[in-house]
Amino acid sequence: MELEIIDQKAREWLHVAAERIRASFQTNLSIDTKSGRNDLVTNMDKETERYFVEVIHEAFPSHRVFGEEGTADKVKDLKGIVWIIDPIDGTLNFVTQKRGFAISVAVYQDGIGQLGYIYDVEKDELYFGQKEQGAYVNGRRLDPVDPVSGLADHLLIANLSASRKYPILWEAIKASRGLRLYGAASLEYMAVATGRAGAYLSANLAPWDLAAGKIIAEEVGCIVKRLDQTEIDMLEKGSSIVALPQVYEELVKNYLK
Ligand code: IPD
Ligand code: CA
Ligand code: CA
Repeated sequence: MELEIIDQKAREWLHVAAERIRASFQTNLSIDTKSGRNDLVTNMDKETERYFVEVIHEAFPSHRVFGEEGTADKVKDLKGIVWIIDPIDGTLNFVTQKRGFAISVAVYQDGIGQLGYIYDVEKDELYFGQKEQGAYVNGRRLDPVDPVSGLADHLLIANLSASRKYPILWEAIKASRGLRLYGAASLEYMAVATGRAGAYLSANLAPWDLAAGKIIAEEVGCIVKRLDQTEIDMLEKGSSIVALPQVYEELVKNYLK
Protein backbone atom coordinates (compact mmCIF):
# COMPACT_ATOMS: atom_id res chain seq x y z
CA MET A 1 0.00 0.00 0.00
CA GLU A 2 1.52 3.32 -1.11
CA LEU A 3 0.67 5.20 2.11
CA GLU A 4 2.74 2.74 4.15
CA ILE A 5 5.78 3.35 1.97
CA ILE A 6 5.19 7.10 2.07
CA ASP A 7 4.96 6.96 5.88
CA GLN A 8 8.20 5.00 6.17
CA LYS A 9 10.04 7.43 3.91
CA ALA A 10 8.56 10.54 5.57
CA ARG A 11 9.83 9.41 8.99
CA GLU A 12 13.27 8.61 7.60
CA TRP A 13 13.53 12.05 5.94
CA LEU A 14 12.19 13.89 9.00
CA HIS A 15 14.92 12.39 11.15
CA VAL A 16 17.64 13.30 8.66
CA ALA A 17 16.28 16.87 8.37
CA ALA A 18 15.99 17.26 12.16
CA GLU A 19 19.57 16.03 12.63
CA ARG A 20 20.82 18.59 10.10
CA ILE A 21 18.89 21.37 11.83
CA ARG A 22 20.32 20.32 15.22
CA ALA A 23 23.83 20.34 13.71
CA SER A 24 23.20 23.90 12.47
CA PHE A 25 22.95 25.06 16.11
CA GLN A 26 26.78 24.95 16.13
CA THR A 27 27.14 27.02 12.94
CA ASN A 28 26.51 30.63 11.94
CA LEU A 29 23.11 30.88 10.29
CA SER A 30 22.66 33.04 7.26
CA ILE A 31 19.50 35.06 7.91
CA ASP A 32 17.48 37.11 5.40
CA THR A 33 14.26 39.06 5.84
CA LYS A 34 11.19 38.51 3.65
CA SER A 35 8.11 40.77 4.00
CA GLY A 36 9.45 42.65 7.05
CA ARG A 37 12.18 42.68 9.69
CA ASN A 38 10.50 39.93 11.74
CA ASP A 39 9.65 37.71 8.75
CA LEU A 40 12.87 35.73 8.57
CA VAL A 41 14.25 32.97 6.43
CA THR A 42 17.53 31.17 7.13
CA ASN A 43 19.76 28.94 5.07
CA MET A 44 18.31 26.02 7.10
CA ASP A 45 14.70 26.83 6.06
CA LYS A 46 15.80 26.76 2.41
CA GLU A 47 18.11 23.74 2.71
CA THR A 48 15.49 21.71 4.57
CA GLU A 49 12.80 22.45 2.00
CA ARG A 50 15.22 21.69 -0.85
CA TYR A 51 16.12 18.37 0.83
CA PHE A 52 12.46 17.30 1.04
CA VAL A 53 11.76 18.37 -2.55
CA GLU A 54 14.75 16.36 -3.81
CA VAL A 55 14.06 13.13 -1.90
CA ILE A 56 10.31 13.23 -2.60
CA HIS A 57 10.81 13.79 -6.34
CA GLU A 58 13.40 11.04 -6.47
CA ALA A 59 11.33 8.47 -4.55
CA PHE A 60 7.90 9.45 -5.92
CA PRO A 61 8.23 11.21 -9.30
CA SER A 62 4.46 11.70 -9.67
CA HIS A 63 4.09 13.51 -6.31
CA ARG A 64 4.12 17.29 -6.09
CA VAL A 65 5.44 19.44 -3.24
CA PHE A 66 3.82 22.63 -1.98
CA GLY A 67 6.19 24.56 0.29
CA GLU A 68 6.96 27.94 1.73
CA GLU A 69 10.42 28.84 0.51
CA GLY A 70 10.05 28.77 -3.26
CA THR A 71 12.08 25.63 -3.96
CA ALA A 72 8.98 23.44 -4.37
CA ASP A 73 6.51 22.99 -7.24
CA LYS A 74 4.05 25.65 -8.39
CA VAL A 75 0.94 23.96 -7.01
CA LYS A 76 -2.42 25.32 -8.23
CA ASP A 77 -4.63 22.31 -7.44
CA LEU A 78 -4.54 19.32 -5.09
CA LYS A 79 -5.04 16.52 -7.61
CA GLY A 80 -3.06 13.34 -6.91
CA ILE A 81 -0.56 13.33 -4.06
CA VAL A 82 0.66 16.70 -2.83
CA TRP A 83 3.11 17.08 0.06
CA ILE A 84 2.55 20.35 1.96
CA ILE A 85 5.71 21.31 3.80
CA ASP A 86 6.84 23.97 6.21
CA PRO A 87 10.56 23.21 6.57
CA ILE A 88 10.82 25.28 9.75
CA ASP A 89 7.62 26.52 11.34
CA GLY A 90 8.54 29.13 13.94
CA THR A 91 11.66 30.51 12.25
CA LEU A 92 11.76 33.47 14.63
CA ASN A 93 11.90 31.02 17.58
CA PHE A 94 14.53 28.98 15.75
CA VAL A 95 16.72 32.06 15.23
CA THR A 96 16.25 33.68 18.63
CA GLN A 97 15.83 30.68 20.96
CA LYS A 98 16.79 27.46 19.13
CA ARG A 99 13.57 25.96 20.47
CA GLY A 100 9.84 26.19 19.91
CA PHE A 101 9.96 25.38 16.20
CA ALA A 102 8.98 22.35 14.15
CA ILE A 103 9.17 20.68 10.77
CA SER A 104 5.63 20.28 9.45
CA VAL A 105 4.91 17.77 6.69
CA ALA A 106 1.53 16.70 5.37
CA VAL A 107 0.50 14.32 2.61
CA TYR A 108 -2.76 15.15 0.81
CA GLN A 109 -4.39 12.85 -1.72
CA ASP A 110 -6.92 14.50 -4.05
CA GLY A 111 -7.35 17.26 -1.46
CA ILE A 112 -7.87 14.95 1.53
CA GLY A 113 -5.31 14.99 4.33
CA GLN A 114 -3.97 11.46 4.81
CA LEU A 115 -0.75 11.76 6.81
CA GLY A 116 0.44 14.58 9.05
CA TYR A 117 3.79 14.98 10.86
CA ILE A 118 4.92 17.75 13.19
CA TYR A 119 8.43 17.28 14.52
CA ASP A 120 9.40 19.46 17.49
CA VAL A 121 13.13 19.24 16.80
CA GLU A 122 14.49 20.57 20.09
CA LYS A 123 12.19 18.37 22.17
CA ASP A 124 12.61 15.39 19.84
CA GLU A 125 8.83 14.92 19.78
CA LEU A 126 7.20 13.63 16.62
CA TYR A 127 3.44 14.15 16.39
CA PHE A 128 1.77 12.01 13.76
CA GLY A 129 -1.78 11.57 12.54
CA GLN A 130 -3.30 9.39 9.86
CA LYS A 131 -6.81 9.86 8.57
CA GLU A 132 -9.18 7.57 10.48
CA GLN A 133 -6.24 5.81 12.17
CA GLY A 134 -5.65 8.09 15.16
CA ALA A 135 -2.87 10.40 16.29
CA TYR A 136 0.35 9.73 18.17
CA VAL A 137 3.28 11.47 19.79
CA ASN A 138 6.53 9.48 19.67
CA GLY A 139 4.44 6.35 19.05
CA ARG A 140 2.11 6.87 22.03
CA ARG A 141 -1.52 7.18 21.00
CA LEU A 142 -3.12 10.52 21.86
CA ASP A 143 -6.43 10.37 23.74
CA PRO A 144 -9.50 11.93 22.14
CA VAL A 145 -9.94 15.50 23.41
CA ASP A 146 -12.40 16.24 26.20
CA PRO A 147 -15.75 16.93 24.46
CA VAL A 148 -17.50 18.68 27.39
CA SER A 149 -15.09 21.13 29.07
CA GLY A 150 -15.61 24.72 27.92
CA LEU A 151 -13.84 28.03 27.56
CA ALA A 152 -13.70 28.74 31.31
CA ASP A 153 -11.71 25.51 31.83
CA HIS A 154 -8.96 26.21 29.28
CA LEU A 155 -6.12 28.47 28.21
CA LEU A 156 -6.60 30.16 24.83
CA ILE A 157 -3.91 30.75 22.22
CA ALA A 158 -4.71 33.72 20.00
CA ASN A 159 -2.48 35.42 17.50
CA LEU A 160 -2.77 39.16 18.17
CA SER A 161 -3.55 39.80 14.51
CA ALA A 162 -6.69 37.71 15.05
CA SER A 163 -7.75 39.80 17.99
CA ARG A 164 -7.15 43.04 16.07
CA LYS A 165 -9.62 41.89 13.43
CA TYR A 166 -12.01 40.44 16.03
CA PRO A 167 -11.66 42.79 19.04
CA ILE A 168 -14.39 40.86 20.85
CA LEU A 169 -11.89 38.01 21.22
CA TRP A 170 -10.41 39.96 24.14
CA GLU A 171 -13.69 39.17 25.92
CA ALA A 172 -13.22 35.49 25.06
CA ILE A 173 -9.70 35.63 26.48
CA LYS A 174 -11.08 37.14 29.70
CA ALA A 175 -13.65 34.34 29.90
CA SER A 176 -10.92 31.69 29.47
CA ARG A 177 -8.20 30.71 31.95
CA GLY A 178 -5.72 33.03 30.20
CA LEU A 179 -3.80 33.80 27.02
CA ARG A 180 -0.73 31.99 25.70
CA LEU A 181 1.29 32.49 22.47
CA TYR A 182 4.09 30.19 21.34
CA GLY A 183 5.03 31.51 17.89
CA ALA A 184 4.82 28.31 15.86
CA ALA A 185 1.38 27.53 14.46
CA SER A 186 2.03 23.79 14.11
CA LEU A 187 3.00 23.46 17.77
CA GLU A 188 0.06 25.66 18.78
CA TYR A 189 -2.19 23.21 16.91
CA MET A 190 -0.56 20.41 18.95
CA ALA A 191 -1.16 22.29 22.22
CA VAL A 192 -4.89 22.07 21.44
CA ALA A 193 -4.75 18.49 20.13
CA THR A 194 -3.18 17.39 23.43
CA GLY A 195 -5.68 19.40 25.53
CA ARG A 196 -3.05 21.83 26.86
CA ALA A 197 -5.13 24.68 25.41
CA GLY A 198 -8.81 24.94 24.50
CA ALA A 199 -8.35 26.72 21.17
CA TYR A 200 -5.83 28.45 18.93
CA LEU A 201 -7.06 31.28 16.74
CA SER A 202 -5.09 33.04 14.04
CA ALA A 203 -6.13 35.60 11.43
CA ASN A 204 -3.62 34.65 8.77
CA LEU A 205 -2.03 31.26 8.29
CA ALA A 206 -0.61 29.72 5.14
CA PRO A 207 -1.53 26.18 4.06
CA TRP A 208 1.88 24.83 5.22
CA ASP A 209 1.34 26.32 8.71
CA LEU A 210 -1.70 24.12 9.33
CA ALA A 211 -1.82 21.28 6.78
CA ALA A 212 -0.32 18.65 9.11
CA GLY A 213 -1.84 20.14 12.26
CA LYS A 214 -5.35 19.87 10.83
CA ILE A 215 -4.97 16.14 10.13
CA ILE A 216 -3.59 15.39 13.60
CA ALA A 217 -6.03 17.64 15.48
CA GLU A 218 -9.08 16.26 13.67
CA GLU A 219 -8.00 12.70 14.52
CA VAL A 220 -8.40 13.47 18.24
CA GLY A 221 -11.77 15.21 17.77
CA CYS A 222 -10.82 18.88 17.44
CA ILE A 223 -12.77 21.20 15.16
CA VAL A 224 -10.72 22.99 12.49
CA LYS A 225 -12.25 25.83 10.44
CA ARG A 226 -11.77 29.41 9.28
CA LEU A 227 -12.76 32.04 11.87
CA ASP A 228 -15.97 32.59 9.87
CA GLN A 229 -16.72 28.86 10.37
CA THR A 230 -16.20 27.94 6.71
CA GLU A 231 -13.97 25.06 5.60
CA ILE A 232 -10.27 25.68 5.03
CA ASP A 233 -9.13 25.83 1.41
CA MET A 234 -5.68 24.19 1.49
CA LEU A 235 -4.45 26.35 -1.41
CA GLU A 236 -5.22 29.72 0.20
CA LYS A 237 -3.90 31.74 3.12
CA GLY A 238 -6.51 32.75 5.66
CA SER A 239 -7.75 32.61 9.22
CA SER A 240 -7.93 29.48 11.29
CA ILE A 241 -9.40 28.15 14.50
CA VAL A 242 -8.60 24.77 16.01
CA ALA A 243 -10.60 24.06 19.12
CA LEU A 244 -12.03 21.46 21.44
CA PRO A 245 -15.69 20.87 20.48
CA GLN A 246 -17.34 22.66 23.41
CA VAL A 247 -14.87 25.55 23.32
CA TYR A 248 -15.61 25.92 19.60
CA GLU A 249 -19.36 26.05 20.27
CA GLU A 250 -18.91 28.77 22.90
CA LEU A 251 -16.51 30.83 20.80
CA VAL A 252 -18.83 30.72 17.78
CA LYS A 253 -21.98 31.46 19.76
CA ASN A 254 -20.63 34.28 21.89
CA TYR A 255 -17.64 35.84 20.12
CA LEU A 256 -17.24 34.92 16.45
CA LYS A 257 -20.76 35.58 15.11
C1 IPD B 1 4.83 31.50 11.29
C2 IPD B 1 4.55 30.90 12.64
C3 IPD B 1 3.78 31.89 13.49
C4 IPD B 1 2.50 32.33 12.83
C5 IPD B 1 2.80 32.93 11.46
C6 IPD B 1 3.55 31.91 10.61
P1 IPD B 1 7.04 30.67 9.99
O1 IPD B 1 5.48 30.55 10.46
O2 IPD B 1 3.79 29.71 12.55
O3 IPD B 1 3.45 31.33 14.74
O4 IPD B 1 1.87 33.31 13.63
O5 IPD B 1 1.58 33.28 10.84
O6 IPD B 1 3.86 32.49 9.37
O7 IPD B 1 7.16 31.90 9.15
O8 IPD B 1 7.87 30.72 11.20
O9 IPD B 1 7.18 29.41 9.20
CA1 CA C 1 5.04 28.52 9.24
CA1 CA D 1 8.48 28.37 7.75
